[in-house]
Amino acid sequence: MAPDPYIELLKKVISGHFHRENGMRINYLLNVAYGAQPFDLGKVLDIRSHASDALARIEADPDEASNYRERIFGFPYSMLGQKRLYNVEAALRIILHEKIPGDILEAGVWRGGACIFARMLLNHLAPDSDRLVWLCDSFEGLPPSEHEADKPHPFHLDLSLRCPLEQVRENFRLFGLDPDHKTRFVRGFFADTLPRLQTGGLSLLRADGDLYISTMDILENLYAQVVPGGFVIIDDYGALEPCRLATDEFRRRLGIRDPIRWIDWTGIYWRKGEAGG
Ligand SMILES: C[S@@+](CC[C@H](N)C(=O)[O-])C[C@H]1O[C@@H](n2cnc3c(N)ncnc32)[C@H](O)[C@@H]1O
Repeated sequence: MAPDPYIELLKKVISGHFHRENGMRINYLLNVAYGAQPFDLGKVLDIRSHASDALARIEADPDEASNYRERIFGFPYSMLGQKRLYNVEAALRIILHEKIPGDILEAGVWRGGACIFARMLLNHLAPDSDRLVWLCDSFEGLPPSEHEADKPHPFHLDLSLRCPLEQVRENFRLFGLDPDHKTRFVRGFFADTLPRLQTGGLSLLRADGDLYISTMDILENLYAQVVPGGFVIIDDYGALEPCRLATDEFRRRLGIRDPIRWIDWTGIYWRKGEAGG
């Protein structure tokens, strides 16, 4: 199928494709603030020329795995690169085509970009559909985790991983969406909110909580709600060992043999019941 120009543009806007230099600009200003570099207004105004090597590395890296620091400060709405956004698109197209019932849920939404993308895709491809998009997050960052696997990753201290609920709702509005239309916001740490959450069935579960404890809370509480043929996407499987451990442990415990497919350097997915289990 020929790419849909509207969806192609949407992916670029959501991933910050048109303003890749913003992350570099912020990174440079942080270095100035920390005293690592002298201030030079010319660099702020024309960071593309001054950081051309770093920019070229980013632009030449289709897997979007390198220069994470420059990238993260430049992500406007989502940390997902093009391939993981494409994976959401491909999964949704299959869900619609195969009429797999159920809502879309992301646990770990940060600025909401992946959910905005899913909501806009559904509005575009299936405007009459009553599928909901669920957004689950503390909206105040990650919890401190006592789990041994998480100890090397004190992400709860990382301010860049926090995004308040009202900012996510505002991001929906920026894209012309009513944040209360066919969406549900579930606010709080997964351990508190997910055990009580009843969705009525999920065709797509997107786990993006980084840690062992967060990934395990998502899978333990929501996997049963994924319908046969539904997609289970784990964003951090390649990037973060705690996430990989939790996923592998959960799959082993439940005897899940559905094949894992890689999306890019970090994201994976499987389809529930594909192996017939
Ligand atoms: C890597 S970011 C998610 C990126 C996002 N999916 C995107 O499109 O860019 C991780 C998010 O997970 C949330 N999070 C992680 N563990 C959590 C937990 N146990 N309870 C609630 N929120 C959690 C954080 O608040 C943060 O917003």
